[in-house]
Amino acid sequence: MFARRVVVVGTGYVGLTTGACLASLGHRVICADIDEAKVERLRQGQIGIREDGLAELVSEGVVAGRLSFVIGAAAALNELEREGAPVEVMFLCVPTPMGVGGIADLAAVEAVIEEVRGALPLSAVVVNKSTVPVGTAQRTTELLERDDIAVVSNPEFLREGSAVHDFLHPDRIVVGSSSQDAAERVAALYARLGAPMVFTDAASSEMIKYAANCFLAMKLSYVNAIAELCERLDADVSDVTEGIGYDKRIGQSFLSPGPGWGGSCLPKDTHALLQVADATDFEFPLLRATIDTNIRQHQRMVDKIRTAVTGKRTGSLTRSRLALFGLTFKAGTDDLRDSPALGVAALLRQAGAELVAYDPGIRGDEVTIDGSLLTVVDDPYLAAKGAEAIVILTEWPEFRTLDWSRLAGEMGRPAVIDTRNLLDPDVVRRAALTWIGVGRGMKPNLS
Ligand code: UGA
Repeated sequence: MFARRVVVVGTGYVGLTTGACLASLGHRVICADIDEAKVERLRQGQIGIREDGLAELVSEGVVAGRLSFVIGAAAALNELEREGAPVEVMFLCVPTPMGVGGIADLAAVEAVIEEVRGALPLSAVVVNKSTVPVGTAQRTTELLERDDIAVVSNPEFLREGSAVHDFLHPDRIVVGSSSQDAAERVAALYARLGAPMVFTDAASSEMIKYAANCFLAMKLSYVNAIAELCERLDADVSDVTEGIGYDKRIGQSFLSPGPGWGGSCLPKDTHALLQVADATDFEFPLLRATIDTNIRQHQRMVDKIRTAVTGKRTGSLTRSRLALFGLTFKAGTDDLRDSPALGVAALLRQAGAELVAYDPGIRGDEVTIDGSLLTVVDDPYLAAKGAEAIVILTEWPEFRTLDWSRLAGEMGRPAVIDTRNLLDPDVVRRAALTWIGVGRGMKPNLS
């Protein structure tokens, strides 16, 4: 006997994770997508995204008969009708890309509502899991034109790469609705997880999602700015973040400096919230500075590389051969969307550098920057051949265990610019390479 009957519309990393995890909690879940080829692949167990534990969970759900895939939201509703038990909760997990002026584009949400409006059974609950502008639950209610159906905002806080873990071990679950009954029905889906529940109205729930992502972005821009100051004052940002992180009000996580923050969420959500603030005539200089600091960070990394390679802050990088280690927006994913690594690479190329990249997550895929192809090889030692510097741009742990002496032997000049502070500087130095990090390494080695 299934606990609840659920339809999940959209099989991106949020939708697929939600569907597979809800099935693992005992619910009967049908996932719908408009991409026919994708649905066919999912039926064959090919999940098409790099997400720890997800393929296993999908196959368990399918084998147990709790999880299946169909083309289109209406077909999912029909399928449950045929099984004799109509849908109780329908999740919207469709893309909400950055539209004109930075505001989220809701066309996909609207299309699904149009499709299911007449087909949803009496008193079903519609849940919005996509990141949507504040007021979308209200707008969805209006579009539905159904007094019997409540709309609930239930934002996701899943990190790409560890989405399954984050779903099954949430810090909190946020449920926002004007209907207490609908909110309780949605909360009941997650009862087995034993997580703290935040019940609120829909607008506050939608705001929580933006406020969380923008806070994380602000924390990162802050730490990147502190790292720059550490360089100027001869302090070590690793010690500084450890020292502040023990303060429970600050916390140890999300304090690693880098080449800037990216991905499909933080850049989109910071721009969207700024746009919303503008629309209400609210000046939000803090958020604007968060974004500006991030854009500046790419140039700052290029200045660092320029200084290391030419010995001058204003030196020329024309025809300097550079090996880029890491292209994805973070480790553990193959996602290049809004990757800070590509932002830095674009500036390096504009400065005339010749780039060869290696990334453990990118195999055989074409990578372009500003419309032209980037050379990507599948061997780090080949990438380093004749390079004047290696630039670490993504924090892949496997970079730590490379043979740094062998890499040094391949290189033209002995510099490693580690924009993630990933490597042990002593290991790199023992290979007769100069290690240059972010916000540290300015002090003499005391050990
Ligand atoms: C982010 C949020 O962390 C999730 O909670 C949220 O659910 C998700 O967006 C979303 O809205 O769907 P994600 O985009 O997977 O998750 O990426 P993060 O792990 O947050 O990393 C974002 C960027 O910050 C990456 O470029 C990463 O390398 C960088 N970062 C992260 C740092 O530079 N330093 C850190 O200490 C942490």
